[in-house]
Amino acid sequence: MKDLHDIYRLAHENTPLVFLAPMAGYTDAAMRQISHEFGGVPLAYTEMVNAYACVRDDPKTWCLLETLPGECPVVAHIFGSDPSIMAEAARKIEATGRFAGIDVNAGCPAPRVMHDGAGATLLKDPQRLHDILSAIVHTVRLPVSVKTRLGPAPGTVMVLENLAAAEEAGVSAFAVHGRFTSQGHTGEVHYDILAEVKAKARIPVLGNGNVISPATGRLMFTETGVDAVLVARGAIGNPWMLRDLLEALTQPLTPPSQEELTPTGKRPQRELNEFRRIIHRHGELQEELLRLRFQSSPDMTKEERDEALVTAFRPHLFCYLRGIYGSHPAKRKLMTCTNAREMYEIIDECLRMEAASRQF
Ligand SMILES: Cc1cc2nc3c(=O)[nH]c(=O)nc-3n(C[C@H](O)[C@H](O)[C@H](O)COP(=O)(O)O)c2cc1C
Repeated sequence: MKDLHDIYRLAHENTPLVFLAPMAGYTDAAMRQISHEFGGVPLAYTEMVNAYACVRDDPKTWCLLETLPGECPVVAHIFGSDPSIMAEAARKIEATGRFAGIDVNAGCPAPRVMHDGAGATLLKDPQRLHDILSAIVHTVRLPVSVKTRLGPAPGTVMVLENLAAAEEAGVSAFAVHGRFTSQGHTGEVHYDILAEVKAKARIPVLGNGNVISPATGRLMFTETGVDAVLVARGAIGNPWMLRDLLEALTQPLTPPSQEELTPTGKRPQRELNEFRRIIHRHGELQEELLRLRFQSSPDMTKEERDEALVTAFRPHLFCYLRGIYGSHPAKRKLMTCTNAREMYEIIDECLRMEAASRQF
């Protein structure tokens, strides 16, 4: 496994890198592997994992940490508010030998996470954030990082205090979603504050927010100077975007024009045989992952396994089919479909309609 320090060092030494951001409900091993295999990302995060449940050995929580052979280095992304529990969870995760690093969530705005003093609550309390990070750094050998936001709301920028707390605790990288907690996942990304963070930081800074195309990726780098970007929603059902962004970054970095940034609402058209191959490959990886997850449930029937596959893959499929001719009826059918063979038939029928529409 490639050492995470080497990856961060590479990013820091002026090679802009692109990583897959953590997304609960999406960045399982199948999405991570398709993002690496086809999209080319050298590093990806797990879904968010509850540190307390991890320490208690909750089986569903450990399922979220399942990995597939052949994945790129994976960072385990944990949330919690108690330094000793966070450190113990990190120790257990490190002991699996499957992860390249531990990342702390200090930005999730979900009330159930914030009420427990975790996620975005932490960014209002740099001392607690420091204590959590320091406890983990002193417990594991793996590199530790944190993903945070700018602050609770415009007018209350906390990110510089949190950077200082993180550096003091000895973390290896600092990821920032360039929005405030009050913004959720929408609205303006504040590149000026991200640039300030990068200018002050002594460790690699990973920028995040609205990287949805090669142009917005270039914008993040040219406006802020960050060492790497974390791509989130832009990568769901769209590993091509990761590949295109990485390709764009092999050219001299220039700010995108206004025209390049103007959203058209349309994704670039992809060659359909390749499109079909990638969807099927992602489905195959999803199946492989579920086989691993269900090892401890030998009594599950074929029908139950099939249904689990369709349920897990459906949100990704909806994103793959965005903008494809015939995707509306396909999505309607997928909503009630519970069988893998039928799922692939619906996809293939939809792609045949898209192919026919391209002939006119
Ligand atoms: C469905 C979904 C789940 C997410 N889960 C997490 C998470 O578990 N941990 C985290 O730090 N951020 C999470 N995020 C936030 C993303 O990592 C990212 O910060 C955010 O979407 C902004 O990037 P984008 O504008 O490029 O999508 C999630 C976002 C979405 C849309």
